[in-house]
Amino acid sequence: MSNGILKGKRGIIFGALDDKSIAWKVAELAQKEGAEIVLTNAPIALRMGTINELAEKTNSIVIPADATSMEDLTNLYEKSMEHLGGKIDFVLHSIGMSVNVRKGKQYYDMNYDWTQKGTDVSATSFHKTIRAAWDLDAMSEWGSILGLSYIASQRVFHTYNDMADNKALLESIARSFGYHYGLRRKVRINTISQSPTLTTAGSGVAGFDGFYKFSDDLSPLGNASANDCAEYCVSLFSDYTKKVTMQNLFHDGGFSNMGMSEQVMETYMKSATGKK
Ligand SMILES: NC(=O)c1ccc[n+]([C@@H]2O[C@H](COP(=O)([O-])OP(=O)(O)OC[C@H]3O[C@@H](n4cnc5c(N)ncnc54)[C@H](O)[C@@H]3O)[C@@H](O)[C@H]2O)c1
Repeated sequence: MSNGILKGKRGIIFGALDDKSIAWKVAELAQKEGAEIVLTNAPIALRMGTINELAEKTNSIVIPADATSMEDLTNLYEKSMEHLGGKIDFVLHSIGMSVNVRKGKQYYDMNYDWTQKGTDVSATSFHKTIRAAWDLDAMSEWGSILGLSYIASQRVFHTYNDMADNKALLESIARSFGYHYGLRRKVRINTISQSPTLTTAGSGVAGFDGFYKFSDDLSPLGNASANDCAEYCVSLFSDYTKKVTMQNLFHDGGFSNMGMSEQVMETYMKSATGKK
């Protein structure tokens, strides 16, 4: 079913690697809701993933861009505006990577070169993505730019490591650039703080299954899936959310406001009393 809430809109979607990616689901739904889109990912991800299938499905083109390169990003916006025939109405930044996490380095033992690389890819690239659009004046008035975050930016989650710091910076960039872009050009910028989701990036975090289950058990509505996230993203690209900006929006089934749930209580009671 489609409501056509993105009819006539033009968007750029970063980060669809394979059909598990959150960006993949967003691209499919955005196109269904009437948008015309351009897909992009880092050149190496284009070789490893299956983005061309998505391009075919969504009747879109793929323009490679390493989101840490201003040159690539500038080229991406220029080519996208040319292809789509005008300014861009929405952008999804769905990018994350930590070398320390990948290589199993603990937070207290991090390799700073890897930390810097992770920050550049996961957080500074959000600033660059916005800045490249700003420099070219590529966004339409009332356009919407979204990044994806996780609650470890605000609370400690064992093994989330330096990605916690990267997400804190990502959320801060949405606020700071959101102020300037809102004031001067009426463009809104937000981050969505999403539940743990089974994707390549998600399952790279050590003990991901534990994260996933605990979060599902604690959230009254259960974890939000990638499809749920796509629906939320599309609503934030639409004209129904024009005055929402500079926010970190929790999309987590209620997790962020919970302390203890019946299900988690039962699990712990069982382990405390030794009952099966
Ligand atoms: N999966 C989860 O549990 C979860 C939860 C909350 C937030 N998020 C966030 O959602 C976003 C999308 O992740 P996902 O879970 O869909 O995983 P994913 O692995 O499918 O997507 C991550 C994407 O980042 C891209 N990328 C990496 N380096 C890049 C670069 N230099 N330039 C351009 N693209 C680059 C990858 O190619 C990949 O497509 C990330 O920001 C992630 O942190 C994920």
